[in-house]
Amino acid sequence: MAMLRISLVALSCAHALQSDLSATNNWYHHHHFSSYHFRPHCPTTTTTTPIPLVPERMVLDPRNTDKTNQCNWGGVNSYLLYALPEDHQDTILSDLQSFGLKAVRVWVAGVDKNAKGTGSPFVPHFEPKHMGEYDYTVLNMIDKLMLKAQQYGIKLIIALHDRYALGCWSCDGYQKDLKLKCLPEEKGFSTTGCTSANDGTKFYQDENATKFYDQRLETILNHTNPYFKKKWSELKEVVAMFEIQNEAQGLDSSWVSGWHCARANVMRKLLHSEILIGTGGGRAFADSSRPEFFNCTNIDVVTLHDYNAPNWTDMYNSIEKARDLGMKHGKKVVHEEFGTKDRYKRPDLFYAHISAAADLGVPFMPWEYVIPGNTDGHDLEFDDRQAAWPVVVYGALLGKMKPASFEWSNLELCNVS
Ligand SMILES: *[C@@H]1O[C@H](CO)[C@@H](O)[C@H](O)[C@H]1NC(C)=O
Ligand SMILES: *[C@@H]1O[C@H](CO)[C@@H](O)[C@H](O)[C@H]1NC(C)=O
Ligand SMILES: *[C@@H]1O[C@H](CO)[C@@H](O)[C@H](O)[C@H]1NC(C)=O
Ligand SMILES: *[C@@H]1O[C@H](CO)[C@@H](O)[C@H](O)[C@H]1NC(C)=O
Repeated sequence: MAMLRISLVALSCAHALQSDLSATNNWYHHHHFSSYHFRPHCPTTTTTTPIPLVPERMVLDPRNTDKTNQCNWGGVNSYLLYALPEDHQDTILSDLQSFGLKAVRVWVAGVDKNAKGTGSPFVPHFEPKHMGEYDYTVLNMIDKLMLKAQQYGIKLIIALHDRYALGCWSCDGYQKDLKLKCLPEEKGFSTTGCTSANDGTKFYQDENATKFYDQRLETILNHTNPYFKKKWSELKEVVAMFEIQNEAQGLDSSWVSGWHCARANVMRKLLHSEILIGTGGGRAFADSSRPEFFNCTNIDVVTLHDYNAPNWTDMYNSIEKARDLGMKHGKKVVHEEFGTKDRYKRPDLFYAHISAAADLGVPFMPWEYVIPGNTDGHDLEFDDRQAAWPVVVYGALLGKMKPASFEWSNLELCNVS
């Protein structure tokens, strides 16, 4: 295994986690998330020292190295990765590559200047002022990220819009043309909150907005990446999946049936057959795994997001239910977003979600790897100096030791690099 900059303290947390594996499992089955204190607090920001090896016990089971086996996988969210300073993009992609993680999820979205303390530049929305009026800045940045990701052997999962740009965290052209409530008050990006006071229902019902949204999807998929000289729709060498929208209809007052499926139909006409179409998740398990997703021919992957499960059993059962529906209907399932603002609970929460997903043969992607990780309890980011990181690494190896429930042929999975 590769050497990596990782904190000593963080690794010893991972050791503790390993040696008490059975006890930990037991513990998670019987306690509430809100009262984790199984392991002592793992301090998050420490000195960084090169640490040699992943413990032997965590190395891939050779029985699963056969390419014909279905191997499960892990990845991370890092929605604004293309806007991070380049050396931080390299650190993140190198971390993923070194420890056998396969994918990183980004969004076609505007980014605030110095978002989350990352030093990002201001990135305008793709349709900042009006529906159908495009600013290609974000696509150009993702073009570059695609090249870099390919150099590290990491695949991208790309959500083509964020529901919360409709006036919740920020206000794009759809918010403006549809006159949806803009919580950040047109000033750009809210740091104070995103609530159901921003009802996006009209966006999903309005025929004109829908027409422009389909045009957006097509315009992005038709966009040519100059480094590859290919359209995004053809870039299977670097894109594993395009998603309809991040958390479509989240926080809305009513549900518009069939919206996801109709968008998937538009996307499928343009896409390379090996690039998957994903839903993009809902706010919690129930909205992420609506029956209509499993019925839609052109939806390939139902992606689960959840920050609310009250206990281990509920979380495990929800992933299992979605997994079983997926297997029944020929859809794949990814446990795509979970996380916590409490940095001391983050490793334990990751351990719980990741071990459940791995046990069920479902890929996992915690929210979210961004440099710097958050330490003030107000946001959910982690980096490789936090104790959460070795848990993610452990999860990637655990995932590969268990049979996968789905086939993931475009991720070259059955090897640990
Ligand atoms: C559709 O939206 C565009 C952009 O806001 C607007 O110019 C046009 O008048 C709208 N058309 C209809 C039929 O509402
Ligand atoms: C995208 O490309 C397809 C195939 O060339 C074409 O039919 C479609 O009109 C294009 N859509 C847009 C919005 O450019
Ligand atoms: C899904 O399809 C089945 C069989 O065609 C049908 O009975 C069911 O009502 C559909 N469910 C939804 C939510 O569309
Ligand atoms: C877990 O949460 C579910 C849903 O709230 C509840 O029905 C169940 O009793 C809880 N189980 C345990 C073991 O606390």
